[in-house]
Amino acid sequence: MGPARAVRRFLRVAAVRALRRGSSWLAAAGPLVLQRLAGDVQVRPDFLSRREEAALCRELEPDLRRQRYQREHWDGAIHGFRETEKLRWTEESSEILQRVRDAAFPPGVPQLSLVHVLDLEKSGYIKAHIDSVKFCGSTIAGLCLLSSSVMRLVSQENQDDWADLLLERRCLYILRGRARYEFTHELLRDEESFFNGQKVARDRRISVICRNLPDSPHPA
Ligand code: OGA
Ligand code: MN
Repeated sequence: MGPARAVRRFLRVAAVRALRRGSSWLAAAGPLVLQRLAGDVQVRPDFLSRREEAALCRELEPDLRRQRYQREHWDGAIHGFRETEKLRWTEESSEILQRVRDAAFPPGVPQLSLVHVLDLEKSGYIKAHIDSVKFCGSTIAGLCLLSSSVMRLVSQENQDDWADLLLERRCLYILRGRARYEFTHELLRDEESFFNGQKVARDRRISVICRNLPDSPHPA
């Protein structure tokens, strides 16, 4: 084994160990799924302070309140939601978003300047899907406001290979690489919202999502 390969292998093994150790937010069908996802999923509980959460909500509420919750998304993936895309933010929020971008994207990676804001009502949920590769690159980074929830990843290859992420209120989650391309992601509705057998009660939830641009332009 060459040195580069050995280093990669070491990093991969370390990442699997870290995932197992830090499994307070990760539950999976088995060790092979953990291994596949190692390094490609990350949850950072308490990424936001209560104050920062409140500041973001205060800023978003007027925009969101102008709309009614929709019961069907155009592609049927999201239920009970309203959303907006936001370019300009207060200084305080911009600093928070910069922290998200620094945590999720290596320097110089071209990112979408519009931030996606998704407001799910208490009964709202997101069905299994993969974000369009036309509009979104390898990485999805989301802040979770107002309610904890469970995100389920399911391998496209084999439905039995799943992993659940506990997304606690005020966390940041990051999906990249395999977690983004080889697994669908969904956000469980209240009735199904359990993590490791424990109920994770859903309430209204707002996510603030940063994405990068696709590597190369795809033909329309
Ligand atoms: C999406 C999505 C997850 C979230 O909008 O494509 O998967 O955390 N959102 O809101
Ligand atoms: Mn998505």
